[in-house]
Amino acid sequence: MIPWRSLRRRGVLGINQRNIDFTTFENPRRLYPLVDDKLKTKAICEAAVIPVAPVLAKAEYHADVRRLVADLRGRGDFVLKPATGAMGNGILVIHEATAEGWLGANGRQITPRDLAYHAESIVSGLYALSGRPDVAFAEERLRIHPDFARIARGGVPDLRVVVLRGVPVMAMTRLPTSASGGRANLHQGAVGAGVDLSTGRTRSAVIGTTPIDRHPDTGERVTDYPLPHFAEALRTALRATDETRLGYVGADVVVDEERGPVLLELNARPGLAIQLANRGGLLPRLERIRKARPQTLDLEERLDLGRRIAESD
Ligand SMILES: Nc1ncnc2c1ncn2[C@@H]1O[C@H](COP(=O)(O)OP(=O)(O)O)[C@@H](O)[C@H]1O
Ligand SMILES: [Mg+2]
Repeated sequence: MIPWRSLRRRGVLGINQRNIDFTTFENPRRLYPLVDDKLKTKAICEAAVIPVAPVLAKAEYHADVRRLVADLRGRGDFVLKPATGAMGNGILVIHEATAEGWLGANGRQITPRDLAYHAESIVSGLYALSGRPDVAFAEERLRIHPDFARIARGGVPDLRVVVLRGVPVMAMTRLPTSASGGRANLHQGAVGAGVDLSTGRTRSAVIGTTPIDRHPDTGERVTDYPLPHFAEALRTALRATDETRLGYVGADVVVDEERGPVLLELNARPGLAIQLANRGGLLPRLERIRKARPQTLDLEERLDLGRRIAESD
């Protein structure tokens, strides 16, 4: 386990300060719905020609669920998710069609009835941030880039980038494991690996709070690993964040085998575990970015600024 006390000396941001000084201070309340709803985020990105996974079907009400299942019946693979979910909850990754229905990420059989039940649960609000009724939607499944194949199991890795005022602060890649059910969320048991913003290579990694060096399923080294299309993925994160006008955001980007970097979602309250994965605190970087007054800089200048600040801590 990594001792939090020693991390605090290294400028680790805690939950209270995040909420007061960053989430609340940097993010106007009226803008939250843009990122709390994945369908709204997608619409903003599409308007700005930022790649996203296309929507295949959606169910807004219980009466739409039958139609959603029928629309997906002929498809080999897709991902069903709640529009306002978080931490990977309620996400079902479907890998292939079978005679009875589909095969899920963990090799589980899923019948049309199971799928309908899952969509009903989503619509009921079971996975919603607010607990209120939600929208269930299916989108195209993104495919793992071959350069990731050795260090992920059962799903696509994603890149989480914490962004302050348009400047990248810290990044980590999250690698699915056999425990995480095709999802790259740390809460589901995925590996989190901190990434050097300049080189795009992973530096250190954790599962939960335990430091690790190798992927638990593939046995491959997950540290000092060069990530494919890293600089472009960072740009995708910054461009999407710019569209929302939010000041403090966690952007999730997947590098798809064919499409390259694709924006998955944005978070207005990004988690703090990225600091464990990077073995370092966010605070010193956040403070230096604020002092630099980056608002007038263009995207490339902000990218450079983030890299320089990350290098010097
Ligand atoms: N279209 C997709 N194709 C493949 N995997 C996906 C897709 N959407 C989500 N996932 C997997 O599920 C994880 C969580 O998805 P995300 O949209 O970020 O939702 P959450 O808000 O729950 O984190 C991703 O990191 C990824 O591993
Ligand atoms: Mg996410």
